[in-house]
Amino acid sequence: MPSYLITGTSRGIGWEMLQQISSNPSNTVFGLVRNKSAIETKVAQEWPGRSNVHILQGDITEYSSLQAAATEVANITGGGLDYLIANAGAVAHFDAYDPIGVLGEKPEALERELMHLLRVNVVGNIHLFNVFVPLIRQGQGKKVIAITSGQAALDMIPKLSIELSALYAISKAGLNTAVAKFSAQYNKEGILFMSICPGLVDTGRYNDASPAQEARVKKMMHSFAEYAPNFKGPSTTESSVKDILSVMENASVANGDGGSFVSHFGNQQWL
Ligand SMILES: NC(=O)c1ccc[n+]([C@@H]2O[C@H](COP(=O)([O-])OP(=O)(O)OC[C@H]3O[C@@H](n4cnc5c(N)ncnc54)[C@H](OP(=O)(O)O)[C@@H]3O)[C@@H](O)[C@H]2O)c1
Repeated sequence: MPSYLITGTSRGIGWEMLQQISSNPSNTVFGLVRNKSAIETKVAQEWPGRSNVHILQGDITEYSSLQAAATEVANITGGGLDYLIANAGAVAHFDAYDPIGVLGEKPEALERELMHLLRVNVVGNIHLFNVFVPLIRQGQGKKVIAITSGQAALDMIPKLSIELSALYAISKAGLNTAVAKFSAQYNKEGILFMSICPGLVDTGRYNDASPAQEARVKKMMHSFAEYAPNFKGPSTTESSVKDILSVMENASVANGDGGSFVSHFGNQQWL
């Protein structure tokens, strides 16, 4: 029975991952969330009788909660974990609509928001990987996937002059580097670490935009469409998760995928 642990399964991409992976009854799927009882209720209501789903309490910035979650996983699986998907992530309203120079007009807020993004997206995931490597080592799948963002792609930012989400992009670049460093250490043990961008997915990121902010997002979408003529706007969580799982399945240490940073297409085509 392959086992999976996905973080951030309360909503969005993580919830859809939990649904797709657990739809195969031979998979044992752990979802790590910050509000266990609410998500257990949601699972029971939406997928009654799905006994292969286990919801764990955890915040990736709280090391002891990750240790407790790892103990719970090991008790259920007998010690190992096949696949770890680091999906949980923080985004900021603060940097969503303005370029970095404008953000700099509020230096204290800039520092506070950036430190929060780094704490969750970089430090939290480093803790997650360190706590779960002993279980992954004992598993059969031996794959650790970080859900990152093409916003951190250094080829795309200058080509499309993507000004928005600068702090978020910086935090995802840090995550990608952490993933590459974990790969450098664990590749030789046959453990795959890689970063996958889910594409642009409609999970409500810009729902609170004012008309002026919406215009800036539209401008960015327009440049995305110029870069990728097939891009027709944000995709659904359903199609994004299918793509991510396919990239994850096809990737391997043997193929040289360790430490790589790829899109939901499995390459550097970000949209
Ligand atoms: N949507 C996109 O277009 C897009 C594009 C590129 C990359 N991504 C990345 O894909 C991943 C999922 O995105 P999404 O759009 O589904 O995001 P989302 O709807 O904002 O969901 C984020 C998830 O992360 C969880 N989370 C946040 N901080 C956490 C913490 N400290 N500990 C544990 N869980 C935490 C949230 O839990 P709560 O419910 O408790 O807040 C939630 O389940 C993220 O890493 C995001 O950066 C998304």
